Amino acid sequence: MKRGSISVAGVGKEFGTTTVLNEVDLAIEGGSFVTLLGPSGCGKTTLLRLIAGFLEPSRGAIAIDGAAMQGVPPRRRPIGMVFQNLALFPHLDVFENVAYGLKVRGTPAADIAGPVSRFLGLVGLAGFERRRIGQLSGGQKQRVALARSLVLEPAILLLDEPLSALDLQLRRQLQVELKSIQRQLATTFVFVTHDQEEATLLSDTIVVMDGGRVQQVGTPGEIYRRPASPFVARFVGDINMLPGRIVSLDATSAEIEIGGSRLRLPLTAVIGKERAGASCEIACRPEAIAVQPSSTGSFSFAARVAALHRLGPMLKVTFDTVHGPLTGLMMANAPAAELAENQPVELSIAPQSLTVFANP
Ligand SMILES: Nc1ncnc2c1ncn2[C@@H]1O[C@H](COP(=O)(O)OP(=O)(O)O)[C@@H](O)[C@H]1O
Ligand SMILES: [Mg+2]
Repeated sequence: MKRGSISVAGVGKEFGTTTVLNEVDLAIEGGSFVTLLGPSGCGKTTLLRLIAGFLEPSRGAIAIDGAAMQGVPPRRRPIGMVFQNLALFPHLDVFENVAYGLKVRGTPAADIAGPVSRFLGLVGLAGFERRRIGQLSGGQKQRVALARSLVLEPAILLLDEPLSALDLQLRRQLQVELKSIQRQLATTFVFVTHDQEEATLLSDTIVVMDGGRVQQVGTPGEIYRRPASPFVARFVGDINMLPGRIVSLDATSAEIEIGGSRLRLPLTAVIGKERAGASCEIACRPEAIAVQPSSTGSFSFAARVAALHRLGPMLKVTFDTVHGPLTGLMMANAPAAELAENQPVELSIAPQSLTVFANP
């Protein structure tokens, strides 16, 4: 097993009478890039602080590489941290900032320059050794913070929204570099963000959180294609939600009524199978909506083009339909994208691209 695995089992956390984390279970594989994704206040930072040992859980247990962490102080855990508000030492230059942890650890002076320049090189700051922190841009400061943590070669690096304060272009660039650094070192990265695009771009595994609970754990593709709840469906990527009803279920499929039509879907597409007869929401990604006449088995209906928006090579179209307004996304150069406002069209959706959520 690769080093840097984390197990979080039944962890809960209260501050006074407020429950901030509920029954969190997570198995993080050593060497992977894992992202905690969720809206502000959902408990992401609290979970990181519990893993780092700055907080102790109210319930449950955390283990790193199989060793129980209860009572183990942060400095004894094989963990580094990078935050959004970085706490670099302003009176020290870049080299001294990165060397700091090695010195504190008692590394002999002769063994410091080598690792410091290796990690400054890794983060793209070779040649900046003697710069003062105040002479660096925001992106360069983040690189110093990263090198300062990585030089200690932790098994696990915790990163709490490290890119949120940077402008979009710089953020995109650092995202690519961060991923490449993680791949080279095979250090476990636990990265926090509220930005679903960032999470999708970086992660091997995404942990979607809301209200102090883990809502879903999966690869970016699994979470996008098979969201486990309406919350996840709405939070990760654009989605259309159509109201409907679960008519019946058998061993392999479900019959769904939607705006007067009936469709048969595989049972795997239905979340909340025990609630046959219930009203439901049917989730449909914009790119699953095709402008074309019905074909066998597809779900088809008449619509009218309400608005067209070009997004680079893509065309985003709002349709008025019997199911309410729906958003579609298609390649702008596709023949089917020769659309004009108010044009009547026939839409069809492949049933296998739908996910059904029974209402509670
Ligand atoms: N030390 C604390 N005392 C009381 N409440 C806290 C403390 N730290 C965090 N909280 C509360 O816990 C919730 C989760 O916070 P946090 O983990 O920082 O969320 P996130 O990082 O996802 O935005 C919030 O409602 C926050 O106000
Ligand atoms: Mg936070």
